[in-house]
Amino acid sequence: MNEKIRNVCFYILIIVLMSLIGCEKKQAVNIYESEEYKTLTRKDITVGESIWAIACFRCHMYGTNGAVLLEEKEYWDNTASKGIDELFKSVWEGKQGDNGAMPAKGFCNLCSEEEIRRSVFYIFHLAKKVQAANESKSSG
Ligand code: HEC
Repeated sequence: MNEKIRNVCFYILIIVLMSLIGCEKKQAVNIYESEEYKTLTRKDITVGESIWAIACFRCHMYGTNGAVLLEEKEYWDNTASKGIDELFKSVWEGKQGDNGAMPAKGFCNLCSEEEIRRSVFYIFHLAKKVQAANESKSSG
């Protein structure tokens, strides 16, 4: 093989490898488009709701501590696009927002990973319900 061809092959190989590595980085799936959200069972929702009621509610219901109200459709739709992995991490480890902070596990110190995960899906489920109720109020 002459050297020129060998060099070209080498570059092609590098490009192929780089694009393979690029694909490794998982693209976040919007919560609302994720399989997990679409296939939530009644039990998942009940678990999520009970965590919501003992922990998340105190800030996210009334916007306490700088939490963003569920009726802010734009905020929650944008947030949904971060995907479950990043959002789970925000809640599990806590997050500093623009107007306040969310404590790790949203104060539910005894919650398991599974419960926090369900509560994250639940908050998006509830946000849709609140937004739909507001829309029908304003159009009716
Ligand atoms: C002490 C108040 C407080 C509690 C309790 C709380 N949050 Fe939060 N939450 C916040 C604040 C403040 C933010 C940041 C708002 C912002 O992005 O400006 C936030 C942000 C979030 C976000 C968006 C995170 C991101 O990465 O954009 C999610 C999802 C969320 N909360 C879910 C929950 C869930 C689920 C619970 C219950 C397990 C919970 N929160 C409990 C205050 C709270």
